[in-house]
Amino acid sequence: MDKSEIIQLPKILDHRGNLTVIEGLKNVPFEIVRVFWIYDVPGGETRGGHAYKTSEEFIVALSGSFDVILDDGRKRTLHALNRSYCGLYVPACTWRQMENFSTNSLALVLSSTFFKEQDYIRDYNVYLSALGS
Ligand code: TYD
Repeated sequence: MDKSEIIQLPKILDHRGNLTVIEGLKNVPFEIVRVFWIYDVPGGETRGGHAYKTSEEFIVALSGSFDVILDDGRKRTLHALNRSYCGLYVPACTWRQMENFSTNSLALVLSSTFFKEQDYIRDYNVYLSALGS
C-alpha cells in the first residue's frame, strides 16, 4: 500500500465497555515490529517533523485528539484523529508532523521496523531531494 489512509478498526461493543483490536497484516498493511506511544505533550508542542526511508506507521488517538499532517512532496493533508477505533496508515517516505494535542491525549504508533536513526530523514529539503532522485 503506497497511499496514506484512515482505517476503521473492529469495534466490539459491550455494555461493560468497548473493545478494539489491531492485528498485523490484517487491520494494518504490515507486520507490527515496534509499538510506541506519545503522551504528556505540553500544549502547543509539535512532534514528528520527519520522514522514514522504509518504516511504515499506523497512528491511533487512543485518548483525546491531535492532528497529523502528511506531506508526500506534492500535497499536504491534515488528519484530525480523535477516535480510538480509527487509525491513520502512513506509508514510508511520507513527511509527517503531529500537532494540536489535546490535554491528556495519547498517541499510539505502530511501526513496521525496529528503531533505527539512519531510517530518518529530518531535513525537509533533503526529503524533497530524495523524492526527486
Ligand atoms: P522521534 O522519533 O525523533 O520523535 P518525534 O518525531 O515524535 O519528535 O524520537 C524522539 C527520540 O526518541 C529520539 O532521540 C529517538 C528516540 N526513539 C527511540 O529511541 N526509539 C523509538 O522507537 C522512537 C520512536 C524514538
